Amino acid sequence: MTTDFLIIGSGIAGLTYALKVSEKYPYKKITIITKTTADETNTKYAQGGVAVLNDPEHDSFEKHIEDTLIAGDGLCNQHIVEIVVKEGPERVNEIIEWGAKFDKEVGGDYKLGKEGGHSAFRILHHKDITGREIERALLAAIKDCSNIHVINYCFVVDIITQHHLGFLVTKSTPDIECYGVYVLNLKTNQIEKILARKTLVATGGNGQVYRTTTNPSIATGDGVAMVYRAKGRIENMEFIQFHPTALYEPGVRGHAFLITEAVRGDGGVLRNKDGETFMGKYDSRKDLAPRDIVARAIDSEMKRTGTECVYLDCRHMGKEKFIEHFPNIYEKCLSIGIDITKDMIPVAPAAHYSCGGIKTDEWGRTSIKNLYACGECASTGLHGANRLASNSLLEAIVFAHRCFIDATDTVALTDLKETMPDWNARGTSEPKEMILITQSLKELQLVMSDYVGIVRNDIRLHRALRRIDLLWEETELLYQTSTLSPQLLELRNMISVGYLIVKSATFRKESRGLHYNTDYPAKSNLVQNIVL
Ligand code: FAD
Ligand code: SIN
Repeated sequence: MTTDFLIIGSGIAGLTYALKVSEKYPYKKITIITKTTADETNTKYAQGGVAVLNDPEHDSFEKHIEDTLIAGDGLCNQHIVEIVVKEGPERVNEIIEWGAKFDKEVGGDYKLGKEGGHSAFRILHHKDITGREIERALLAAIKDCSNIHVINYCFVVDIITQHHLGFLVTKSTPDIECYGVYVLNLKTNQIEKILARKTLVATGGNGQVYRTTTNPSIATGDGVAMVYRAKGRIENMEFIQFHPTALYEPGVRGHAFLITEAVRGDGGVLRNKDGETFMGKYDSRKDLAPRDIVARAIDSEMKRTGTECVYLDCRHMGKEKFIEHFPNIYEKCLSIGIDITKDMIPVAPAAHYSCGGIKTDEWGRTSIKNLYACGECASTGLHGANRLASNSLLEAIVFAHRCFIDATDTVALTDLKETMPDWNARGTSEPKEMILITQSLKELQLVMSDYVGIVRNDIRLHRALRRIDLLWEETELLYQTSTLSPQLLELRNMISVGYLIVKSATFRKESRGLHYNTDYPAKSNLVQNIVL
């Protein structure tokens, strides 16, 4: 199959880019591929909203820029921060024009929320299901574009480059080029190739590398892993953001339900098991300090009191007001016997967001020609060492636009390579025991959670690396000899992502933002990005 524009991923990043390309080129072929259904994305689970300047009387670009830089702890690229914050309002208006609805006051002004690290109320939201609303609106708009083809259950295995033509490709090869991808068609179980002029990686996050995460099961870091295999540049993978307040349900592992930070923005207060508020001990901004600080404070409080959670107290917030902004959270809590008007909500940190990823320039270009990346899988320089809450959806739409500009400007000069070799599956057979894959995944998640969590040190990182090496060796053998399955491909990708997180963490000899290493508790004077 061939296409002009290939998009891997149907979250906010992939869909925004597709809609823009389709508006400009209604007769060129645009193909979106997803590994399950089109709406199963991190985007769908976003709660808090989109941070964007909306109330110039009480807010400004300068304040949003400053908040982003402070959260990023000295590692943001200021030029990129300015681009995202200043281009944000125009991009948000576009998704509103495509049909996304944000909550309004009776008088017609937008209701603005607040989250950790923000100095003003600036977060547009749709109750506590902002992502679901955006995903709904964008998918509906896509349906009206006859030149966009969405292919579900189509798992991208690898990016096709000169390597597949038999050339030696290394990190120092100049002009590595992307010609398209190999996919595992989950309906036929065949490996097929899709050749494209321009390819966008919009594969989202990698929270599933950890035992407990707010991310759905699709978030396995596939895009980062495949670009790394193709010898593209990957940056700052050590900065994994743990959301301070995932719902704690004893015995529940994997996908944890999020209690949005906007609840604290509306007055929710954290308390320890003795009912004491504790954030004042850690930061003058208390419950609304940036996420790295709140997550570390909770971690420390849990360790000090020997508990598996702390509590979010919303009892004073008023039932009507709470239900108006957070109906989904109210219902979820009630469904497990927590009445937020009488009971505190048990919460604990969970892996939430990858600040690093595929390194891009200001036009979303990766180090591989004709390959773009945007959304959570990309490292644009916006987040630095810690993402400011609700800046992710904003970054995705601003960079989807920038990728669109560059890709459409240059597509006419880009040839399709129509003679790529087929996938070679010789010598492979069905794996005898699928359970081996599941066991290895559990081991990986355990290693990452126990040794590469919120607080790290050199011994733990070293242990993690040794264990990941072993898992890598065993999984490679399985990969070389087995017919491919999504479970095996995801495991292989997650092992690569785990490796990239640990390796980057070992290179960073300091504590900064989300990376806290007790062997180097201070920030170094050397401000650097770790690029692998
Ligand atoms: P996603 O929306 O995750 O989409 C990924 C796509 O890639 C999917 O279609 C998937 O099928 C596809 N894909 C992946 N791998 C493959 C493969 N191998 N082959 C084919 N397809 C593949 N951010 C904010 O700014 N505000 C918020 O309020 C907010 N709340 C959040 C709440 C939760 C619970 C979570 C988990 C995240 C939240 N975030 C929030 C972060 C934000 O939602 C994500 O960073 C963002 O939605 C990512 O969008 P994306 O388009 O990059 O990827
Ligand atoms: C939340 O709603 O707390 C999540 C917001 C985000 O991750 O940006």
